[in-house]
Amino acid sequence: MPTEPLFHPISAATEPFIDIEFDGRRLEVLGQRSVAAALLAAGVSRFRSTPVSGAPRAPYCMMGVCFECLLEIDGVANCQACLVTVQPGMKIRPQEGARSWEAVHTAGGGSDEDTTEASHAA
Ligand code: FES
Repeated sequence: MPTEPLFHPISAATEPFIDIEFDGRRLEVLGQRSVAAALLAAGVSRFRSTPVSGAPRAPYCMMGVCFECLLEIDGVANCQACLVTVQPGMKIRPQEGARSWEAVHTAGGGSDEDTTEASHAA
């Protein structure tokens, strides 16, 4: 959910804006920075929810350590938004709860093994 931005870029007037999609809505964000920085500057304050309680989370360390910035970027789950450079046309979604097996297999991020419960029961 976009809100009033907590962060304001120092040099916004000289930097290009790009269009991305966040949670199904078009957003115009500053380019040439990480996805996390671009979304925070655009007022996005909720990036994911925790798998256990569903508590909202947002970037904390901005350097790849805390994993609070996980998003689904262009269909790939578990992307650390602070380590990915924002690109025009990106389709970004909040990561809700735990990563699903379907997301692993459709994004090509998993192995070719059949890891469904049915295969374990056999
Ligand atoms: S903000 Fe900590 S890993 Fe991205």
